[in-house]
Order: sequence, then C-alpha cells, then structure tokens
Amino acid sequence: MSDANPGTHRERADGSDSPAQVTGAEWWRHAVIYQIYPRSFADGNGDGIGDLRGIIDHLDYIDSLGVDGIWLGPVMSSPQADHGYDVADYRDIDPIFGTLADMDDLIAACHQRGLKITLDFVPNHTSEAHPWFQAALAAGPGSPERDRYLFRPGRGEHGELPPNNWRSVFGGPSWTRVIESDGTPGEWYYHLFAPEQPDLNWRNPDVLPEFSDVLRFWLRRGIDGFRIDVSDAPMKDPGFPDTADEQPLIPKDEASGVHDIYRAFRTVFDSFDGDRMAVVETGAPAEIVALFLRPDEMNLAFNFSFTRSPWDADAIRDAITSALAANDAVGAPTTWVTDNHDMPRSVSRYGTSLRLVGEYVPALDQQAEVDVALGIRRHRAMALLMCALPGTVYLYNGQELGLPNVDDLPEAVLQDPVWERSGHTERGRDGCRVPMPWSGDEPPYGFSTNRQTWLPMPQGWGHYTVENEDADAESMLMLYRRALSLRAIHPGLGRGAIRWLEAADAVLALEVASELEPVVVVVNTGGTPAPLPAEIPVGITILSSDPTVPTGSNVVEIPADATVWLRRP
Ligand code: GLC
Ligand code: CA
Repeated sequence: MSDANPGTHRERADGSDSPAQVTGAEWWRHAVIYQIYPRSFADGNGDGIGDLRGIIDHLDYIDSLGVDGIWLGPVMSSPQADHGYDVADYRDIDPIFGTLADMDDLIAACHQRGLKITLDFVPNHTSEAHPWFQAALAAGPGSPERDRYLFRPGRGEHGELPPNNWRSVFGGPSWTRVIESDGTPGEWYYHLFAPEQPDLNWRNPDVLPEFSDVLRFWLRRGIDGFRIDVSDAPMKDPGFPDTADEQPLIPKDEASGVHDIYRAFRTVFDSFDGDRMAVVETGAPAEIVALFLRPDEMNLAFNFSFTRSPWDADAIRDAITSALAANDAVGAPTTWVTDNHDMPRSVSRYGTSLRLVGEYVPALDQQAEVDVALGIRRHRAMALLMCALPGTVYLYNGQELGLPNVDDLPEAVLQDPVWERSGHTERGRDGCRVPMPWSGDEPPYGFSTNRQTWLPMPQGWGHYTVENEDADAESMLMLYRRALSLRAIHPGLGRGAIRWLEAADAVLALEVASELEPVVVVVNTGGTPAPLPAEIPVGITILSSDPTVPTGSNVVEIPADATVWLRRP
C-alpha cells in the first residue's frame, strides 16, 4: 500500500462491504479498557508464558467484567529484551504469543462480543534486531542508514567518552559504543531505555512514513486504536547538551516538532472508518499532556498524577481537578488509572504510607511492611471513585482480583532489564507482572498447564483466583462487576460533570451530574469513620466499597478507608 492514503477514502476495518464493526461516536470518551499484559494473562500452549490463544480462551471472562475493550501489551516480533517493548518487526506477531492468524482470530472474537481491541505501539525506539538498526550498524558513520537512529561520535581524545552525560531510564549511560566493520570502536548510539532499544531519529524523513504505514497495517486488520509508548519522547534536543541532573532533554512543546508526528498519525486514523483512537503515555505535567490531546492530535492520555497519588484526599483531589481542567481546555476526556505493568500494584502502594518515586519506572521509595488487607480496602474505595469520575477507566489485569505486588521474587528469577541495568539496586517491575491466578489452590492456578511459569507464582494465592472470587459476593471481582454494570446503565456515572462538596478533613465528596439523578460519591481516606458532607447529612447507598454498608441502606457516616455511592433520600 502506498503511504499517500487519500483522506477522502475511508478504509473499512476488514476490507469488506459489511458495515464497520466499530460503532458509537467517540466511544473512547467514556470507556473502560482492560489492559492485558500478554505474558501474564493466560497460557494457551503450556510453555509457561501467556499468549494470544490464552486470551481468546478467556474472552468470556473479560466480557463478564463489563469492560468496553482491551489494550494488549506488545506482541509484535521481539527479542524480548524489555518484554516486547523492543520490536524487531512491527508487522508480525512474536512466536511466543502466536501468529498473525491468531491475532486475526482475537480481533474477530473481540468484535463478535462488541469489545474494542487496541494495541501497544512503540515508535520511540526499535529493537537492536530491527533490520533498520542492523543496516545502520553495517553501513557505517555518515550513512543514510545511520541517520535513522541517533549515532554520534564520542568525546575524549579517541571518542572513548559518551557524547553527553544523559542517563538511561533503566540505569547506566544512555549511549552505547559500536564496533565498526573494520573491528575498531566507533560511534555511539542513543537509547533512552536499554541498549537493546536504540532510539529512532524522528527528524529522518524515512521514519514517519514507515510508522504511519505500520499503523495502517493494523488498522486495516481491524484494530480500534493504540496505546502509544513513551509518546512524548521522540524529539530529543538535537544539540544533545550535557544537563545538570543528567536527565535527557526532551522538549514537548509545539516548537519541538513532536506534535507534528501526532497530527500525521491523526490523519492516518481519520482515513479509516469507525472511531480509531490512541491513548498517549507521558509523565509530563497536565498542561503539557493536554497539548497531545488537541482535536487534531490524539484522544486520551494516562493521568499519572492520579496514579501516583498517595492515599490522601488532597493529593487525589488535586490530581482530579488539574487533569480535568487541562483536558477540558482542549475538549479531551480524562483517564483514571491506578495500576499498570510499570509500577508496584496499588494494593501494595495503598497498604503502606510510602510514595512512588521515579518517572518511567516508579518504585516504592523504600522497603516497607505492606498491610495487604488495608491496601485492599483502599483499592476498593479507589475503584469506586474511579468508576464514577467522568472519562475513561483503564484496569490492569489482576487489579480486579485485588492482587498485591509480589515483592519477594527471588533475585535469580528477576527479568526486568532494570535489575541488571541498575547494578542490582532496583528490583524493577516484575512484582506487578506475576501471572494471573485463575483457579485451584496451587501454582500455577490454572494460568498454565506448566508448573514452570515465566515468573513463579506465590503460594497462598488460592483466594485471589477468578474461580474463588467468582463465588464470593464480597470479592474485589464482584465489586468491579457491580460498579461497571451500574456505570454502564446510569447516565451520570463515568460521564456527568462533577461538583465538589464541602467535606470533613480526609474526605473527598463530589456530586456527579445526571439527567436521571445525581450520584454523590464520598471517599473517606481517614482511618476513622467520617460524617457525610453537611449538604447531604443522610444518603441512600447505591454501592459501597465496604461490605458492611449494604446497598439500599441509609447512611450518615462513611467507614474508614471506604467509598460510598449515594443518592439523596
Ligand atoms: C514504557 C512502557 C515500559 C517500557 C518503556 C520502554 O514506559 O510502559 O514498560 O519499558 O516504555 O519501551
Ligand atoms: Ca504460551
């Protein structure tokens, strides 16, 4: 296919004459999207690693949650140096996960159930095994092949020092020196992450057409959208100056050129039928994030200030109001996320008083005892807050079961490149990537037929299995199902404008507007029961995160670490 895709012609998802699968204008504005970490969801072929077959086999489960679609972590061909965030072929599926035919089956099976399917798209860097990078190594300094990446001569008398002092996100220098074809040490190339993930030069004219065509490849197969990995990073400061804090200089403003990339991607999406969308991953402040969400750019951005908020009413309120204000200004919805594959699970975060540190690879700021029962109470409360707020909710597989982070994986099994790159000072993100427990009382809990799972599963997870939580009316799973089914039918939940209500310290109280009837959401982040806001001294429970407050009951106070959805009597 040519790159010049005429804007007047809208391609169908499946190339057929049948009506497009994708219906519903701007469905992504109020959606609930389930993030699948492909290695960890379900293993269909018994090698101990999750795969596409495993996902297809469990789509009824995903459907039963009441979500609108899935975001699939990277499954394209990859040496797996960063578990798929190092792509060698953007137009094929890695054999670990299956085949293109499996992917087509998955797309069809999702659409049959009315689920959207979105993919991880990694444009900032390729794998070192990508043919472009291999060609760049072979072609040598000054070649057009090298210009697709960020090669620079070293400093020092013999070029033995890296071109600048920027550090890699995963630890260590962000430059690696190559051996030239004559066998001598030569230029250095830049990698924001691991050396196996060389950064592309987005100022090179080959790059945008190639990646636009990759998007078309997947859109044509019926993919509904993308999650764009480190979306704010493609344009490094071309002068590569040393920085005082050794952090990379990556401008994100209009002048940086980064927004032209997203305008071009928008044109690609708009040349297809249906509402194809993208969510950007950027840790920038809310006003910068909003630039990516202008009408001619992308649709959604993860609201990481909400994700990073400790269990503290003021911090959570600020994260909500700042994102809503910045996004309203450009007409974009906000997303609500507590968990993903890059940070310790929120049950563990909320079960300590400690905060997240680190931008791309956050960790808890010190080792601490985690009170899992407390973390679960707070996660339940956060879940009800999230599901009420206007915008799109992202759920990370396993969060609906209340899984805690696995902090005691033996060092010998750690796989995240962060562990090696940090010189064994940071354990990395494996603790939130342990496979899903489906059934039974012993590892591998129905995840695989193989006891040897890619990360070992802990003893004692029998009560977190889908099987077990399915049968327990008070489980986390049932709370999510109830919340999402109410959200789906109530015209205000997840959609209505919010109004803050005056409330006691440590309490967040807001009203979600609705044509039907407003819902009052009260979150008590304190350790003791708190009164309802003065404006509504009594409420009738629609749903409570605390099972001791039954639906339909009159309440005058909110239990500690709990959220209640209320209507006025
Ligand atoms: C993003 C991903 C993370 C990955 C990194 C490099 O931050 O979420 O998992 O390691 O990009 O691609
Ligand atoms: Ca497998």
